[in-house]
Amino acid sequence: MLKVTQQPDVISFGGGLPAPELFPTHEIAQATKRVMDEYGASALQYSVTEGIPQMRAWVAQRLGPRFCRTIAADDVLIVNGSQQGLDFLGKIFIDPGDHVVLESPSYLGAIQAFDAYEARYLTVETDEDGIIPESLERVLDRADPFPKFLYLVPNFQNPTGRTLAANRRERVVRICERYDLPVIEDDPYCELRFEGEALPPLSSFQTTGTVIYLGTGSKIVAPGMRVAWLVIPNADVREKIVLAKQGADLHSGTITQYVFHEYVCSPAFEEHVQEIISTYRHRRDVMYEALREHAPPSVSFNRPHGGMFLWVRAAGADTAELLKVSTKERVVFVPGESFYPARDVHDGMRLNFSNSSEEKIRIGIERLCKAIEEA
Ligand SMILES: Cc1ncc(COP(=O)(O)O)c(C=O)c1O
Repeated sequence: MLKVTQQPDVISFGGGLPAPELFPTHEIAQATKRVMDEYGASALQYSVTEGIPQMRAWVAQRLGPRFCRTIAADDVLIVNGSQQGLDFLGKIFIDPGDHVVLESPSYLGAIQAFDAYEARYLTVETDEDGIIPESLERVLDRADPFPKFLYLVPNFQNPTGRTLAANRRERVVRICERYDLPVIEDDPYCELRFEGEALPPLSSFQTTGTVIYLGTGSKIVAPGMRVAWLVIPNADVREKIVLAKQGADLHSGTITQYVFHEYVCSPAFEEHVQEIISTYRHRRDVMYEALREHAPPSVSFNRPHGGMFLWVRAAGADTAELLKVSTKERVVFVPGESFYPARDVHDGMRLNFSNSSEEKIRIGIERLCKAIEEA
């Protein structure tokens, strides 16, 4: 796909990239200069595995109101992208053949991370409101061996853009607490909400320290900085993650943590997040309206309230085959089967709207709908 997207005139809804024209390059340059002037050598030195104290404190402070409780900075660990967090969680929890519970479909990068530790998957049914609690209970009742954790993306999920409904969140946590099943709440898109009220994270409902939270700077600052965080209330789990990180890379880059912290503490940061939200909201609207105008009746699609992806179903189609036709029409997307661990559902498509201009989105959707008709 990368080869195809490098060709001129190919429109890609395939990647999951933020809009590069919005990256705060000038502000990051200024923040870097300030860090060098103020902290100099300490920003270039080795630092502690858990992350520099000011980054951990910033995360605790920013998430506190969302979690509806005070978060101890000691519960926060800084990692090299949340993808590294997923790898470490796989490393400490999964032995070959262990079960992991996923929503269906699920984030491909998590499946890849857990595959490396030879996980097997149990999938929970989902609808427009995210995972269905009754289905989760059924899966846990029957599971043998009992799974190591539930992994889910509650807000504007990758790939579907769906959000776990408010009235399901507490229920999911209570079920997992009853079964003593750890939950990995991967939440990279929570700040990219275009409309409606922010929903409390699963972490805010926990009473037994069973939820491990993952957040990242990739979607609100820049993915190239690889600054992300875990909030782990359970001290044993935290200690094991720290050991995994020590073995992997000692610590995340000191200078990037300093610069990230310097930038997010400047007034420019909040304005920047608002600019991302407003740009992506327009792009979502343009994609949704273009689909309404051009999609044949066999095609259904959602209108996510945030994030970077829209999910399309083409009834009866095999979208991996459709991709071959759409490539000839010079538009690409990710076929949905990649997001199902058993690769047994073929009619889905993930469309990214954050990384294309409004004009490209209009042209790309017209081309895609033509390809669907042809196929
Ligand atoms: C659900 C989800 N988790 C994790 C990641 C990885 O993010 P990071 O850049 O922090 O490694 C992504 C990236 O697209 C994602 O969509």
